[in-house]
This record gives sequence, C-alpha cells and structure tokens, in this order.
Amino acid sequence: MEIHNFSIDMYKEVCQLWEVNGLSLGASDTEEQVARALDYNPELFIVGKIDGVIIAVVMGAFDGRRGYVHHLAVNPAFQKKGYGKKLMLELHKRFSKKEVVKVHLFVEIETEGVIEFYEKIGWHVRDDLIMMSYVPK
Ligand SMILES: CC(C)(COP(=O)(O)OP(=O)(O)OC[C@H]1O[C@@H](n2cnc3c(N)ncnc32)[C@H](O)[C@@H]1OP(=O)(O)O)[C@@H](O)C(=O)NCCC(=O)NCCS
Repeated sequence: MEIHNFSIDMYKEVCQLWEVNGLSLGASDTEEQVARALDYNPELFIVGKIDGVIIAVVMGAFDGRRGYVHHLAVNPAFQKKGYGKKLMLELHKRFSKKEVVKVHLFVEIETEGVIEFYEKIGWHVRDDLIMMSYVPK
C-alpha cells in the first residue's frame, strides 16, 4: 500500500469507502467542507492506495493546540492485513513532525470494537472526560 496526501478529486472515492464502512457522514462531510478541512491540514489527510485504488483513508487535523483523527476507514476486503495500522503510524509520524503535543479521536459507541485496534498502536481510552458539542446557529 502506497500512502499519498488526499486531494479533492478523490472525494467521491473516499466517500464510498466511508459509506461502505458505515461511518455516519454529516454536514461536515460535503465536498465543500472536506475541501475546507484539506486546506487547513493538507499533509495530515492521507489515503492508502493499492494498484491506484484507494483502500484506506484517514483525516488528521491540527487546530494549533490539539491534533484530531477523523474518519479512519479501510476497505472491508482489505481489513485485518495491517493497512489500518500502517496508515495510522504514518499519521503519527506526521503529527510528531508538526510537534503536536496530544491527539484525540472519538469512537462511536456502536463501533467501540475498534478500541482494541487503537490500543495496539498506542492510544488509550480516557475515562476522565465527557464530550460535549455545540452547533453554531
Ligand atoms: C478499524 C480499522 C480501520 C482497522 O483497520 P485494519 O486494516 O483492519 O487493521 P490492521 O489490520 O492494521 O490491525 C492492526 C491490529 O489491530 C487489530 N484489529 C484490527 N481491527 C480490530 C478490531 N475491530 N478489533 C480488535 N482488534 C482489531 C488487528 O488484529 C491487528 O492486531 P495485531 O497487530 O496484533 O496483528 C478497520 O477495521 C475499519 O475500517 N473499520 C470500520 C471503520 C471504523 O470503525 N473506523 C474507526 C472510526 S473511529
């Protein structure tokens, strides 16, 4: 698997990958919003390709204080072959290069099985925080 920076012409292919993996796509996932995220963090938004086909994607982000990981997905036909780990380890390197102190991600309750995957690559669950959200009008 070769790792490349995401470019906006990959949007449709990547959306299919997210959808086939059951990721809930919302108002932040339109082509316009994804292009905006890309503008902020072009080198943290990466894909894995095999024979020119995108089989893995992850959207990293850095807001100047904290890093975030969104929408990691591997094509189901290619799961459990080490590709998710390879893509995430590359993203870890890119966060290190930017000297990001701490990175967070959110796991939906219904996909909590993936916690074991993240723990294997060095992440830990926080039980001292409650996530809150606000939707600006
Ligand atoms: C989570 C996901 C990205 C993992 O990708 P993957 O390519 O299958 O994972 P890897 O093959 O690199 O696995 C690395 C290690 O984690 C383990 N692992 C992977 N998925 C696991 C799971 N669901 N439960 C437990 N362990 C898992 C692997 O067995 C492997 O262990 P090893 O190093 O001891 O051999 C992939 O299952 C996926 O796309 N899931 C659907 C989308 C999703 O839930 N994304 C996360 C959003 S928060």
